[in-house]
Amino acid sequence: MQVTVSLIKADVGGFPGHAQVHPKMLEYAAAKLKEAQRRGVIIDYFVFNVGDDISLLMTHTKGEDSPEIHGLAWETFKEVTEQVAKRYKLYGAGQDLLKDAFSGNIRGLGPQVAEMEIEERPSEPVIAFAADKTEPGAFNLPLYRIFADPFNTAGLVIDPAMHDGFVFEVLDVKEHKVYLLKTPEESYALLGLVGTTGRYIIRRVYRKDGLVAAVNSVERLSLIAGRYVGKDDPVMITRAQAGLPAVGEILEAFAHPHLVHGWMRGSHAGPLMPARFALIDPDRRMAIGPKMTRFDGPPKVGALGFQLHDGHLEGAVDMFDDPAFDYTRHVAAMIADYIRRMGPFQPHRLPPEELEYTALPKILARIKPYAADEYDSERKKYVDAVIRGAS
Ligand code: 13P
Ligand code: 13P
Ligand code: MG
Ligand code: MG
Repeated sequence: MQVTVSLIKADVGGFPGHAQVHPKMLEYAAAKLKEAQRRGVIIDYFVFNVGDDISLLMTHTKGEDSPEIHGLAWETFKEVTEQVAKRYKLYGAGQDLLKDAFSGNIRGLGPQVAEMEIEERPSEPVIAFAADKTEPGAFNLPLYRIFADPFNTAGLVIDPAMHDGFVFEVLDVKEHKVYLLKTPEESYALLGLVGTTGRYIIRRVYRKDGLVAAVNSVERLSLIAGRYVGKDDPVMITRAQAGLPAVGEILEAFAHPHLVHGWMRGSHAGPLMPARFALIDPDRRMAIGPKMTRFDGPPKVGALGFQLHDGHLEGAVDMFDDPAFDYTRHVAAMIADYIRRMGPFQPHRLPPEELEYTALPKILARIKPYAADEYDSERKKYVDAVIRGAS
């Protein structure tokens, strides 16, 4: 059976600040999707948050970029904003809904989208990822590890069905160009691109027979809004097993908390910590996810596992809820403590190009420099003037 898995997320209000969402927001969204399921618009759904972002996982038969499915997500986010976030004056109500007019596709309006239309295999394990206080490029390193690094993924060496490798679709978000690079043949060129995580983003990974294996969301909010509106906290879907990386090979890529951009005010580098959900409620089709506390973080990723059956989502299983990841969390907490002590210094604070959409340029515009040559020849005059308080 052909089925489309759509994972669409938006920040429509934080509780409190940018820490988490209000449970009533998740309840509202789940009720809305339940109603859509009853009407036959979607086959199944699951609603969850990581930090202050709400993710709507939906299965249906309407294909990718379906106006009906995107419209349902848009309406859900709008209503959650109006009915819950605004009512409790939650922080940044409607934060990611940047444009007012929905005209058939939610891309470019603020929310993040990861979708794949697939032929459901005899057994179809899928994992839905969401990360908060970071950006889509945060998934570049784990995606490379999962699909191209034999030290992570034993199947690349051992499983004949994976031995040929994969094809990476990389989007250059600045120049709006797409690269298709094969591994292992072009791995070094691929790394040359995707190590630049703010610009070259792995959007899809295909097996060499064309089967889509993973899809990452790539909407750059600041490029849409032209100002800082929060980071583009990403979502991703991966399929697993039987000629694809095993579930454990996918999760293994998160065992080392690599540094990502985001965290406080979207302006700091910090470790990506794999986090547990607080509550999984399969009957109500919702889960309450991790919260962002220390310095609005550190950046966290949550993973929910499902088995698809005729479009139904059996689950969710909290994939990082394992003591084996406690060590990773501990290392991430140590890295967070280490790097935090650098305060406003790079590389903890991001380089200026990454802060261009924040309020920092306004602050810097208030201080006036002298031309260096002029200053050097009359240094005493300038210094005396400043000391005396003259302008
Ligand atoms: P698959 O053959 O389903 O990919 O499983 C391999 C395995 O045993 C994973 O640990
Ligand atoms: P979000 O992008 O998650 O809303 O976070 C914004 C922020 O400024 C956190 O400090
Ligand atoms: Mg927020
Ligand atoms: Mg967020």
